[in-house]
Amino acid sequence: MTDYRTMTGQAEGMLEAEPWYVAAFSNISALIMETLPDLNWAGFYLVREGRLTVGPFQGKPACIHISPGKGVCGTAMERNDTVVVPDVHQFPGHIACDSASESEIVIPVRENGTVRAVLDIDSPVKDRFSPADRAGLEALVRAVEERVSWS
Ligand code: SME
Repeated sequence: MTDYRTMTGQAEGMLEAEPWYVAAFSNISALIMETLPDLNWAGFYLVREGRLTVGPFQGKPACIHISPGKGVCGTAMERNDTVVVPDVHQFPGHIACDSASESEIVIPVRENGTVRAVLDIDSPVKDRFSPADRAGLEALVRAVEERVSWS
């Protein structure tokens, strides 16, 4: 079981050292990839000009642009809510950036309630993300939202 409390504390330390979103999201992507077992991609898509554009991440090169409502990321952006997909092959419209991906979680990152980015995490294992993973990762994102600087 991942120690999300410790991981969130490490992310808070990174954000306190440098709140600029590019630096913070880069190190937080690396932190997630290092800490959680069984991942093949972890990173951020940023809302720019009404759609998602790939931002800091760890993993294979990914699709660059995702429109609202498209794929798991665009669905989380449009719903302004976390989306957990236990089996990506059962999710209509899933965008396969890495064919190794079997399950996925996407969590919106908000500023004053408005979605500014999404945190996307992919696993090569089906049903990788439990309710405890969702709660831990949502708490991490809340800590990010409280500290990040968007400019
Ligand atoms: N699978 C995502 C696309 C991003 S890659 O997984 C990095 C989706 O369906 O939105």
